[in-house]
Amino acid sequence: MAEYKIHSPQPLTQSESWGYWTQPRSPWMEGLARIYPLKAQRISFLNRMLAQDHASGIETHYDVSNEFYALFLDERYRFYTCAEFQSEQDSLEEAQAHKAQYLLSLMQLQGNEKVLDLGCGWGAMLKFLQDSGHQGPLAGYTLSKEQLAYAQQRLGLNVSLTNFITDQFVETPYDCIFSIGALEHVRPHELTDLYQKIYDALVPGGKAVHQFFSLEREPYPASMVLMQLFFPGSLLSMHKTHLQIAHEVGFRITHDSIHDYKPTLKAWYERLAKNQDQAIELVGLDIFNRYMTFFPIAWLFFEQHEAELHRIVMEKPET
Ligand SMILES: C[S@@+](CC[C@H](N)C(=O)[O-])C[C@H]1O[C@@H](n2cnc3c(N)ncnc32)[C@H](O)[C@@H]1O
Repeated sequence: MAEYKIHSPQPLTQSESWGYWTQPRSPWMEGLARIYPLKAQRISFLNRMLAQDHASGIETHYDVSNEFYALFLDERYRFYTCAEFQSEQDSLEEAQAHKAQYLLSLMQLQGNEKVLDLGCGWGAMLKFLQDSGHQGPLAGYTLSKEQLAYAQQRLGLNVSLTNFITDQFVETPYDCIFSIGALEHVRPHELTDLYQKIYDALVPGGKAVHQFFSLEREPYPASMVLMQLFFPGSLLSMHKTHLQIAHEVGFRITHDSIHDYKPTLKAWYERLAKNQDQAIELVGLDIFNRYMTFFPIAWLFFEQHEAELHRIVMEKPET
């Protein structure tokens, strides 16, 4: 059905698409959606998807058009990650600033530390750090050429096209390494090496601060099959797996909080719907309909607690 909606010959309308995916379903439909495709089929399909190059899946999603993303992301920073709505009256801009402030407080920076952002997007958090008066060296990695061009040319940030999973980190050690919405792209079998690499790249006493969502109930849920439409080749890990691996490589977990992604998804959806004509002109009908389908499906995913959005601090011991 999602495929059918995406390839609809008409633009999906605001109320129709949101209502279709988020309306309460009968317990029977709910149960069916959870078990179909059957577990063995899911595992075999997802393993086939994982055989493809991870980087090409990232490009499929992010190298669409910077102008298109600007139509629905917050105007000041262009965060493409869960914000922090403290009240219903908050604008998306305010909510993204609250999120950034929250993460900054977790980093506990004094102002001169060397900091690395894994999966820096359009440079939003690096820019927020600069605006907050951070003086120390800042670096960011992305896989998206569109994001790289924006972060380097428009913001003058030290961002490179580096695959944080397969490439070595350069200019180590760092006092703080953080990621916002990037660990979702790390497949379960890649987690141990990545956490080890982050650990090795930190100074003793250094911190890793991550915001990401992870599975709460079971590996390979049916929802991951649907998600391949939007993030081909990505597969979420269980939250307990993240914690266990972080612990095994030597980190101490000093913070783990859960936050609500749903208001952000709704806000992006409403902005995109409002900018329908411009969006279709920039990226065409198929891509417009793809995002009009993605946001409500993602909303439902969190509504049903398939996954939760976490903010985590991992500390490397002093000795
Ligand atoms: C959801 S966006 C989040 C961007 C940004 N952190 C923010 O808060 O807006 C995910 C980012 O992770 C990057 N990414 C995913 N996998 C990556 C990898 N293996 N190496 C480098 N960047 C990666 C993407 O290019 C994108 O910039």
